[in-house]
Amino acid sequence: MKKVGNHTSISRILFFCLALSLTFSVSYAQQAAPEAAAATAAAAPAAGAGDPVKGKELFNANCASCHKLDAKSTGPALRGVADKHDRAWLYKWIHNSSEMIKSGDAAAVKLFAENNKTTMTAFPQLSEADIDNIMAFTSEVAPVAEKPAAAPVAEGSGSGASNNLILGALVLVLGVLIVMLVLVNKTLRRIAANNGVVVTEDEPSVSLWKAYAKNGFLVFVTVLLLMLASAYFLYGYLMQIGVDQDYQPVQPIHFSHKIHAGDNGIDCKYCHSSARVSKQSGIPSLNVCMNCHKNIAEFAGDKDSLYVDHSKEFYTAEIQKLYDAVGWDKNTQKYTGVQKPVKWVRIHNLPDFVYFNHSQHVSVAGVECQKCHGPVETFEVMKQNAPLTMGWCINCHRETDVKVEGNDYYAKIHDELAKKYGVQKLTAANMGGLECGKCHY
Ligand code: HEC
Ligand code: HEC
Ligand code: HEC
Ligand code: HEC
Ligand code: HEC
Ligand code: HEC
Repeated sequence: MKKVGNHTSISRILFFCLALSLTFSVSYAQQAAPEAAAATAAAAPAAGAGDPVKGKELFNANCASCHKLDAKSTGPALRGVADKHDRAWLYKWIHNSSEMIKSGDAAAVKLFAENNKTTMTAFPQLSEADIDNIMAFTSEVAPVAEKPAAAPVAEGSGSGASNNLILGALVLVLGVLIVMLVLVNKTLRRIAANNGVVVTEDEPSVSLWKAYAKNGFLVFVTVLLLMLASAYFLYGYLMQIGVDQDYQPVQPIHFSHKIHAGDNGIDCKYCHSSARVSKQSGIPSLNVCMNCHKNIAEFAGDKDSLYVDHSKEFYTAEIQKLYDAVGWDKNTQKYTGVQKPVKWVRIHNLPDFVYFNHSQHVSVAGVECQKCHGPVETFEVMKQNAPLTMGWCINCHRETDVKVEGNDYYAKIHDELAKKYGVQKLTAANMGGLECGKCHY
């Protein structure tokens, strides 16, 4: 006796599995990313009395001029100094060391004598909590494994990990699906046996597929899902064509914005001087570099500094490349006349049909470089921070108010347009920043 109801129950079970697997995979995919983020966040807080991060700031601001962590400078190396003296002694010493030396504290007098009788600055303004923070920083274990943290690689691997997680989850879901199908098959056989239906060996599996193929609704849903999925990936693929966000080529000279603009605080416009006055921002000529580098032939940066990712030798060799390029002999301090021009790889590059003007944004609109280029002063290697898509430009024009203070011409237009649009503040969009012709030739 064949049961008619069998087909619908198979399709129901199948449909249920499909729905289950979908909800499972979607919710898992949503969870995966925050979980990965939480994991990295959990690794951050460190144990100990003080906060080493704040301590590092205080150390760099107050102490780094005379102390290094692992090497003697004007003062002794400070790593692990918290274990050398008790805390009360340290508070007193840092608040006013010369008073301690005068009072005849044995340890203080000895230190003073050992360091050529150099007087350490008094820091009465530092609270005991501040000093605890500094000590927490100096007590950190020397970061051996931190060195190879080549920034560019680390960046991508984060999303790679979560992608792998999602892929893993999908594989798991498929596995579960297969197991379920096998179980369903078994159950059906048992029911069939109980009802006295004789099943020939390969019939059930054939009828399962037949049942599936016959069920128009199920086939329809599957095809629909497949189409949606491929449309989704196709869309994602098409949208990233021509978008080079995070593009980070290797330059002929390893030039660190972190060291120049961050650590040494050189103003962007010292090197990119045309950003203020012209359409192009431009890369500085090597003569600009030589204004400083005639005197800076070696990299002397502190290896404990938060600005340094490579060894001194590496950086010094990069400065040598600059000398080779301009033909400078650092021993004789003379130009040799033999030059090897450097070809910087261009990173940002809008298509030819787009008009973009730096001075309009930097000087007229007063937009910070960082708003478009990201925290450049932290980049060891320069990269394209923004997508540079049309949507990116337009969004900012919609959101950014035009700066009219101190500009009579604008103030007048502003008043007229503000009345026209009935708004208090004018955005770049109100001023015509969305008109195709403004950006397209
Ligand atoms: C002007 C240079 C100078 C500055 C700035 C300075 N120190 Fe010193 N420090 C010294 C010298 C020099 C010594 C060695 C003792 C002496 O000659 O007085 C010393 C010694 C020390 C010692 C004792 C080291 C040991 O091996 O026992 C500690 C701790 C210390 N400094 C902490 C600090 C802290 C913390 C700061 C920042 C808040 C700081 N110092 C800023 C010059 C300086
Ligand atoms: C000491 C000179 C110097 C200073 C200061 C400097 N830059 Fe640069 N910048 C360069 C050089 C050289 C390059 C080309 C090499 C590279 O891409 O790393 C460059 C490249 C760039 C690029 C990428 C150019 C391209 O090819 O698309 C941007 C954007 C940029 N700098 C922004 C800034 C900003 C923002 C600041 C201030 C925070 C700054 N720069 C400070 C010298 C400098
Ligand atoms: C305003 C002064 C100044 C200018 C201009 C300048 N530098 Fe430097 N440069 C420095 C200082 C300061 C350091 C760090 C030296 C140290 O810490 O010992 C440095 C370090 C370097 C280093 C080693 C670290 C690194 O970034 O890889 C290189 C290479 C270098 N500069 C190349 C250049 C080039 C190329 C230019 C021109 C585009 C340039 N510099 C322009 C001041 C300058
Ligand atoms: C409103 C966004 C914006 C601001 C603000 C901005 N830039 Fe740019 N920058 C761009 C875009 C877009 C490009 C690509 C231009 C192109 O390809 O024609 C670019 C390109 C560059 C380049 C590559 C060379 C060139 O001129 O094409 C450098 C260098 C640069 N910017 C430096 C700076 C500096 C320094 C500042 C701050 C003084 C700054 N930018 C402010 C958006 C901006
Ligand atoms: C960070 C915000 C920001 C971004 C990103 C930005 N702009 Fe602007 N843009 C402004 C502001 C603000 C003004 C108004 C300047 C003024 O006062 O005239 C402006 C004005 C302009 C103007 C002149 C409009 C007029 O009315 O004359 C052009 C053209 C322009 N932007 C092109 C671009 C292009 C192309 C891009 C993308 C590659 C871009 N902008 C990205 C903020 C931005
Ligand atoms: C604020 C500046 C700005 C305005 C206003 C603007 N565009 Fe664009 N447009 C861009 C930029 C930048 C690109 C390059 C995008 C890229 O390379 O991905 C672009 C690209 C395009 C493209 C090429 C397709 C693509 O995505 O590469 C077309 C077509 C286009 N714009 C049409 C228009 C039309 C039509 C208008 C008026 C409604 C307009 N644009 C207004 C900045 C602008």
